[in-house]
Amino acid sequence: MDYIHKLKRLLPRGLHPHLGAVRRRLRSLPARTRRQKEQLLENTGLQPQERELLRQVKSEISPGDGMYVGDGAHYFKVGLSAIRCIEEALDAAPLPFVKQVLDLPCGHGRVLRFLNRRFPEAKFTASDLDRKGVDFCARHFCAEPVYSDPNPDRFSLGRRFDLIWCGSLVTHLNDRGIRSLLAFFARHLKPDGLLIFTTHGERVIQLMQNQEFEYGIAAESVAPIIEAYRKEGFGFADYPGASAYGVSLTSPEWIRRAAAVSGLGEVYFRAHGWDDHQDVYGFTLVEAV
Ligand SMILES: C[S@@+](CC[C@H](N)C(=O)[O-])C[C@H]1O[C@@H](n2cnc3c(N)ncnc32)[C@H](O)[C@@H]1O
Repeated sequence: MDYIHKLKRLLPRGLHPHLGAVRRRLRSLPARTRRQKEQLLENTGLQPQERELLRQVKSEISPGDGMYVGDGAHYFKVGLSAIRCIEEALDAAPLPFVKQVLDLPCGHGRVLRFLNRRFPEAKFTASDLDRKGVDFCARHFCAEPVYSDPNPDRFSLGRRFDLIWCGSLVTHLNDRGIRSLLAFFARHLKPDGLLIFTTHGERVIQLMQNQEFEYGIAAESVAPIIEAYRKEGFGFADYPGASAYGVSLTSPEWIRRAAAVSGLGEVYFRAHGWDDHQDVYGFTLVEAV
């Protein structure tokens, strides 16, 4: 996209914001994302069933998807990696059937596109605060759209699910937010349902310390949240200018204790299982809520 930088130098400043939108549109052109998916299909590292699933998955990526920065192979690999963890969690806690699936936060369907092919008989609910993401999921992945509420305590979907996937939301919440979210999931899980969610653990600390990944919090917040994590199993810093939304670090012990309060018991854990990055947990209800 070097031509965008060249163009930027030629155009008046007032037009620069529009260039970002143009860049997002160009990098998510359907022909481009289709080619990126085809390139990943040629990857010899995929298992036969993963290749088959990927083959079936839609390749449209929304220009508004903040999780896509132009590398389609990585985008689709992250979806496949989520499915790999979900399969492992299902092996650990088999479900009699998967009829109702919730993806919250669905974003623009990075994982949902795989889920709806993996469970073709199931009904899907896609929920997020990002309304454009929810609308995109409804249009492209046959999901029932539900706009979420920033406060899970006052949010209800009015039904329970066999499978709940929550990719990278605990990772952004403070102590109170995580506890509310876990309670929300417990209220929305069928008695023999499975909740799978991801968190930031040791691998993220490593990436932060080596400055290998930009997490978007102020540089001076990094050491304190790691210190708090080491002391209490939990660290959190807001994004600059945000309130109760930023980056959390959570140890497995802290997560297990917080989940137990909502009647949830662990059935699966894979350290940095999602894309060799976020920790992945599977929980089921041990007490009716
Ligand atoms: C890192 S993104 C992950 C999106 C998606 N799971 C994926 O993997 O592409 C975090 C998402 O959480 C959403 N979010 C934040 N607070 C939320 C809430 N209370 N309810 C639902 N979604 C929320 C944001 O809008 C954003 O789309």
